[in-house]
Amino acid sequence: MAGVRHEAAEVSKTSSTAHGTHPGPQPPTPPAGSGHVTDELLELSLGYLYSAALHSAARFNIADHLAAGPRTADELAGAARLNGPHLYRLLRFLATKGVFREDDEGRFHLTALAQPLRTDSEQSLRDYVMVRGEPAFWQSAAQLHEAVRTGTTAFENVFGVPFYDHVAADAELSRAFNSSMAAFSEALSNGVVEAFDFSAFHSAVDVGGGRGGLLRAVLRQNAHMTGTLFDLESVVAGHVLDVPELAGRWSAEAGDFFVRVPPGADLYLLKHVLASWPDEACVRILRTCRAAMPAHGRLLVINALIPAGNEPHAGKTGDVLMMTVLNGRGRTRAEYETLLTAAGFAVTRVLDASSHASVVEAVVAG
Ligand SMILES: C[S@@+](CC[C@H](N)C(=O)[O-])C[C@H]1O[C@@H](n2cnc3c(N)ncnc32)[C@H](O)[C@@H]1O
Repeated sequence: MAGVRHEAAEVSKTSSTAHGTHPGPQPPTPPAGSGHVTDELLELSLGYLYSAALHSAARFNIADHLAAGPRTADELAGAARLNGPHLYRLLRFLATKGVFREDDEGRFHLTALAQPLRTDSEQSLRDYVMVRGEPAFWQSAAQLHEAVRTGTTAFENVFGVPFYDHVAADAELSRAFNSSMAAFSEALSNGVVEAFDFSAFHSAVDVGGGRGGLLRAVLRQNAHMTGTLFDLESVVAGHVLDVPELAGRWSAEAGDFFVRVPPGADLYLLKHVLASWPDEACVRILRTCRAAMPAHGRLLVINALIPAGNEPHAGKTGDVLMMTVLNGRGRTRAEYETLLTAAGFAVTRVLDASSHASVVEAVVAG
């Protein structure tokens, strides 16, 4: 820590001397460690604590305990069987990021950012937050440097097997992961359905469609359509399509998208699938889809598209997550076009539903 402070003071001294623009006495050097840049870097280096704190709040269902109204940390600790003073410090820390808010009486309130942590909120992200703090993610993140050094996947270095094999072998993790993906998907599916006009299509296959949240949203909005959910056996078993308004319009099939997908639909969906895989595996998945599609069929590849520039973007965060747990990657629009071309598709247009979900539409190349 002392080294960081020393360097910061040095940078400040060097730059004022190098520019040589001060005719009179030099402005005083700011006290070591008080500069904005130093503060920001120190805060960034401890960013994992926000993740850990959020995970703790989700684990202890703090948002549920606040659903009926504000409570002090001691009241919450009593309800959730936690240590009051420690819980107070955790919530005070999270409140600095707008997750919960402390009032003048020391009571904590739900905020807009805390609402999705409720298990009963319409688009609850509680499971998503919970799972991202589980050892599968957390221990992999701690080994990110090794992945960067060797070009491998941190998860496989730590756990010795591919991520999806590990998840499938652990019933509780599998339930939580699939539920977390469904929650994430739920939050984005409506945006996709609003951004894309499905009226010209009659049948859809959602390839690697998880529990079917996107397909359910598509079929709900398009009463003329039928749809098939396609995913691994253990995932399809927990599908969410059996609702009265979709009666007679859906089917669910288990299988391996590297081998075959259900044929003959006029629309194929691949949402948040390709980012989990390296290029050659993506081309194989895309070719399997192409083989199943009629000549007039269309494919929608739905993912974050990494933009140029230095701004924060969900695609860039997701890309590092992929490097951490899966052998996949986030991609730019041009990189998706390259994959699609290699698999025999031509891109027809790109629509932005949200930063997590752009829709790349493609047809079978003539
Ligand atoms: C990141 S999830 C995305 C799920 C869903 N499309 C969504 O947007 O929520 C990737 C999905 O691919 C499925 N998957 C992985 N390998 C598969 C395979 N070989 N065949 C079929 N589905 C597979 C997983 O089970 C998982 O549901």
